[in-house]
Amino acid sequence: MSQRLQAPRGTFDVLPEDAARRDVLAATARTTLGRAGYGRVDTPVFEATELFARGVGEATDIVQKEMFTFDDGGGRSVTLRPEGTAPVTRAYFENGMTRLPQPVRLWYLGPFFRRERAQAGRFRQFTQVGAEAIGSDDPTLDAELILLLADLLDAVGVRQVSLRIGSLGSATTRAEYREELKRFLRAHEAELSEEVRARIDLNPLRAFDADHPGTRRVMTAAPTLLDRLAPEDRAHFDEVLARLDDAGQPYEIDTALVRGLDYYTRTLFEFTSDRLGAQSAVGGGGRYDGLAEQLGGPHTPGVGWAAGIERMLLAAEPPAPAPPVVDLFVALAQPEAGRAGFRIAQEARRAGLGAQVEAAGRSLKGQLKHADRLGARYVAIVGDTAEIGLKEMESGEQRDVSADTVVAAVLRGPRL
Ligand code: HAM
Repeated sequence: MSQRLQAPRGTFDVLPEDAARRDVLAATARTTLGRAGYGRVDTPVFEATELFARGVGEATDIVQKEMFTFDDGGGRSVTLRPEGTAPVTRAYFENGMTRLPQPVRLWYLGPFFRRERAQAGRFRQFTQVGAEAIGSDDPTLDAELILLLADLLDAVGVRQVSLRIGSLGSATTRAEYREELKRFLRAHEAELSEEVRARIDLNPLRAFDADHPGTRRVMTAAPTLLDRLAPEDRAHFDEVLARLDDAGQPYEIDTALVRGLDYYTRTLFEFTSDRLGAQSAVGGGGRYDGLAEQLGGPHTPGVGWAAGIERMLLAAEPPAPAPPVVDLFVALAQPEAGRAGFRIAQEARRAGLGAQVEAAGRSLKGQLKHADRLGARYVAIVGDTAEIGLKEMESGEQRDVSADTVVAAVLRGPRL
């Protein structure tokens, strides 16, 4: 016998009980975001590789080593989308959304792909729900989106949540600050981890993220970007915070918040849950006022977030799974009754009932036990006569009905 095949590393199957929880989550997202005027958008699962190289940033881990990239058969390089913000921004321009009243509020839900080392809560195919508001730099939108994510997490039962927020300022401030930080890191090179030292030029901000004790010690004295913000960026950040305060949303200001995407400007935030292990980020996002230009469009500010569905479900109180409703189980007293039984089940479903028919050759006793386990309200026992024994499971009462009145009798319920 050949080896039994398995799903690729970092992927997983969604089984019915989990699928039901995902459906609830998707419905909650639709309601929560729909109420605030966000419309659903779906972009392709693969895009031109250049979209992510330019959008997410060449220096990021995502672009450097985590993309599933392949030739489309015509010499063009395409990539399974690792994130949704660059695609949604592309779609905004490509579909003429600049002509709509601004900002345009969009949300999405679907699979994303990153070639990451798989571990609990980190997969190579995962699902994100995300929201973006494109076309305005009003701090109201930053606050609105943060509160929407907080509401969504709450509504789906994600507990022990904390919000960290920071601001990256403008690209110019950031560039100046990066130079200052590089000078600072070079002055302390001997105390830094090798990895941080190797990336001083490529990504100095990563030093704030390091676990290495020496690096951490150095970074406590590092200059922070928040201290260097230009007055208008500081004012924008304060406006966002004021709205969160007004809404009673707790947060912690993080001067060294680092996220793995290069398009962020100004507001940056992340929600974590203590119910998750090492991969504690349940969702995050920020403002990306320079992204549209990176993609070849005109200056167009935007802000948004994405949250991982798998992590939300890991961090949520599991709701009691609702078993499928079985109004009628059609049992076969003998194999020859198969076609008659099948017809009854089909008719029952067309009438809107939950109906299942025996399909595993069990004994009649076995079928009744199975129907009981399913929680069936009625069992129709189909034999070789035109009469069908209709049993109400709760009372145990049974009577004979004709084949063409079974469904009507069940619809009439509850007593025979
Ligand atoms: P991100 O922080 O890279 O942001 O991903 C958002 C969320 O997706 C994470 O907080 C996490 O819950 C989930 N996630 C990411 N990678 C994985 C993985 N390998 N396995 C399981 N879950 C994962 C973005 O993607 C940005 N596009 C968010 C954004 C939208 N910023 C502005 N607008």
